[in-house]
Amino acid sequence: MTITIIGHGYVGIVAACVFADFGNTVYVIGHTPAKLEKLKNGDPLIYEPGLAEMLQKNTRAGRMIFTTEYDEALKESSIVFSCVGTPPTPGTGEADLSQVYTVAKQIGAHLDPSHFTVVSCKSTVPVGTNYEVKKIIEKELVARSDVMLSQTKHDASLVRQAQSDSWSHIFAVASCPEFLREGTGIHDTLNPDRTIIGSDSQKAIDILLELHKPLPGERVVTNIPSAELIKYASNSLLATKLSFANMISLFAEKVGADAPSVLRAVGLDNRIGTKNLDVSIGYGGACFPKDVQALTATGRSEGVDVSLLEAVEKVNVLVWKNYVAKVKRLVKVGGKLAVWGLAFKANTDDIRFAPAVKIVEQLAKDGYQIVTYDPAAMPNVKKQLGDLITYSEKQYEMIEGADALCILTEWNEFKQADLVKIKKILKNPLVIDGRNLYEVQKMKDLGFTYISTGRKG
Ligand code: UGA
Repeated sequence: MTITIIGHGYVGIVAACVFADFGNTVYVIGHTPAKLEKLKNGDPLIYEPGLAEMLQKNTRAGRMIFTTEYDEALKESSIVFSCVGTPPTPGTGEADLSQVYTVAKQIGAHLDPSHFTVVSCKSTVPVGTNYEVKKIIEKELVARSDVMLSQTKHDASLVRQAQSDSWSHIFAVASCPEFLREGTGIHDTLNPDRTIIGSDSQKAIDILLELHKPLPGERVVTNIPSAELIKYASNSLLATKLSFANMISLFAEKVGADAPSVLRAVGLDNRIGTKNLDVSIGYGGACFPKDVQALTATGRSEGVDVSLLEAVEKVNVLVWKNYVAKVKRLVKVGGKLAVWGLAFKANTDDIRFAPAVKIVEQLAKDGYQIVTYDPAAMPNVKKQLGDLITYSEKQYEMIEGADALCILTEWNEFKQADLVKIKKILKNPLVIDGRNLYEVQKMKDLGFTYISTGRKG
């Protein structure tokens, strides 16, 4: 099958590589030639384990074509996935759909009427967006119909029929949301729990089922609004689970309970499950914060009581602020803090809505000297925070003389760090751990004051 992917961020480039790896021909459309050139040369532009290898393999095999030209890609493609960004609008939290609609216009302007094309938003889009995309494409097709009729290459009767049946012989929209996590994107795309396909067109459903055939997991075929809502409901429920866990963590710190074991015991009830309950400094990234905000905003505009979602977000702020308060209780203003981890989670250089970045920014503004180490995210943080904090490539040397070691991201290389060495070089043997990487008793035995999250000690 030949498909087109518009946008080469996390969702776009991972999907493109995986579908190419199954033997499909994949056009990737972007608007910056320099970036497309890098992709062509095997640089995925984002940090994602295993992605560069997959990109290089499939580009070499001629299965991935990078272009700025819609005509070239759409002429061949049975499916067009729109994978552009839908960032939150500052102030309202609503998803900004301008990129989605610009792409829809382009699709309408370049769709090849001589064959059927499925147009599907893979990015997370609010309920109703795919229907809006359909209207935009139809409008473009109507505007083009005279030209199409005048062109001998197009069969006039086909165009006339398409006009009379709302273009359903030429294209149909479908919602086919993505569920990959950053850092494990390829694994998640290859091993989905389920594939969601929402469309009013059986032809579109059949084509999408065919494309997803090599993937395991259940198929859920439904209508478009349900498919769109499934994505928001999934991310919002996962975020709710995290805020619930973090609220229990705040509670545990007050009463001397051990939040991780409490939550594990709670999760052993099959109806709840033990996954996605690790207490932390709050959820971040490009998805949970944005999607909770967007569902809150659209729910509100539909007259739905969204107080549950509002509380989820409120707790997510409380937890990173709780971490800042802990540091302030333990270290005098002006002290030196060595910080390990800035990315919103391990295995990514992504710092969008990263609680770690909020924490270091706040502490630096409050007068602490901050020196940071992160295996991947420092260049991105530098762009955002500049000289407000300092950056070090030396994981251990940067700790020397610090009043505390603060752990904010759960990178593997921190999990079995040389604790004896850390104890020797810290000015005070104080570790404030937002990710619970170490055993409380072991840290005590080594002589640390170990302040972790939702745990006594
Ligand atoms: C999330 C969803 O998990 C994916 O299913 C979805 O496809 C994606 O959003 C998206 O909408 O594109 P992602 O944001 O990449 O994926 O990362 P997660 O692994 O879910 O982590 C999100 C945040 O929650 C991170 O800050 C992480 O540190 C935090 N988290 C996660 C915890 O604090 N505790 C946990 O137990 C799990």
